[in-house]
Amino acid sequence: MFARVKQLAQEGVEILDLTAGEPDFSPPKCAEEAGIKAIQNGAGRYTPAAGILALRQAVADQLKREQGLEYTAKQILITNGAKIAITQALLVMVEAGDEVLVPTPCWTSYPEMVKLADGVPVIVPCGPDHLPIVAELEKARTGKTSAIMLNSPNNPTGVVYPESILREIGEWAVATGVRIISDEIYCSLTYGDAKHVSPLALVPELMETSVWIGGMSKAYAMTGWRMGFLAGPYDVVDRIGTVASQLTGSPNAISQLASLAALENAGEEREAMRKSFESRCNLVYEALQAMPLVDCPRPEGAFYAFIGVEKILGKTDPESGRAIHSGDDFVELLLEVDRVACIGGKAFGAPNCFRLSFATSEDILRESLRRIAARLNALK
Ligand SMILES: Cc1ncc(COP(=O)(O)O)c(C=O)c1O
Repeated sequence: MFARVKQLAQEGVEILDLTAGEPDFSPPKCAEEAGIKAIQNGAGRYTPAAGILALRQAVADQLKREQGLEYTAKQILITNGAKIAITQALLVMVEAGDEVLVPTPCWTSYPEMVKLADGVPVIVPCGPDHLPIVAELEKARTGKTSAIMLNSPNNPTGVVYPESILREIGEWAVATGVRIISDEIYCSLTYGDAKHVSPLALVPELMETSVWIGGMSKAYAMTGWRMGFLAGPYDVVDRIGTVASQLTGSPNAISQLASLAALENAGEEREAMRKSFESRCNLVYEALQAMPLVDCPRPEGAFYAFIGVEKILGKTDPESGRAIHSGDDFVELLLEVDRVACIGGKAFGAPNCFRLSFATSEDILRESLRRIAARLNALK
């Protein structure tokens, strides 16, 4: 899909692009200024592999303030993006042949990361509301199950797991010895009444076995700055730090100082970006509600709507003659005929859905949704 969108753009075709997995905002001013100052002050040298202490402390402080999670600075690891933090955690926490439960729909990278760590990803389908079901997790658990990937707010579904489910999963994990890798990279991006809670805060025993993942990419619009964070029990963090020191060495020195400035001073800018996302989220949801041929739970977090297309399976587009047998077919039709780009659900383990990112302007969203509605109405 990315290759086709790029090719069309190179041919001069104007595409309304709703595929973005990153905010369309600029990073906070104070982060940019701190980055420039760091370069000018010659701060671009290696730092400790676990990150500079001031940033580790700032992450610990924010975790305590915003999530009620108590970690010391030494229990925090700074990494070059959340992606490598998750992979390094899996490399340490998973032995060859261990099974890792992956509630699905899921972020495309999880199963591949588990395989990189010589583990076996076990796909566990969520319910129709895209929430994990503990009975299904238990059914999938074997003697080889060592961990579970949790991601709330969720990519691709935009769902925020309610406290009751997180508590239930957390208690099940403690009782069964399954460790949680809790990817909370979208934790500050929630909308309406939805509130993010960490399972580690709800079931504190998890702090002894499980890890928390966060970072600067999504909430601070700093994707390319590559800053991720990991928190966990001291011995686990220490071992992950040893892997990090061989795999990536020190995290980006300039980005660490920029991130420190953002964590300390960019609360208002972060909130302004969240509010913009919230307004786009409402716009998208209202438009989708007026489309009876698709189903979409109200997105409550991250910046994605995950849209079910069961009702149009078997229909045909009269203009192009294309038949729809999956979310990917519909996405292809939208791209080729309407010049709107989304991502088909197959990549997320949900072939009858597609993902729409609202990390773009309200004008582009309005026009895209108008075209999507018109295409749905045209299907026979
Ligand atoms: C659920 C989830 N986790 C982690 C990441 C990785 O973030 P980073 O840019 O910090 O590597 C992404 C990025 O798309 C994501 O969607």
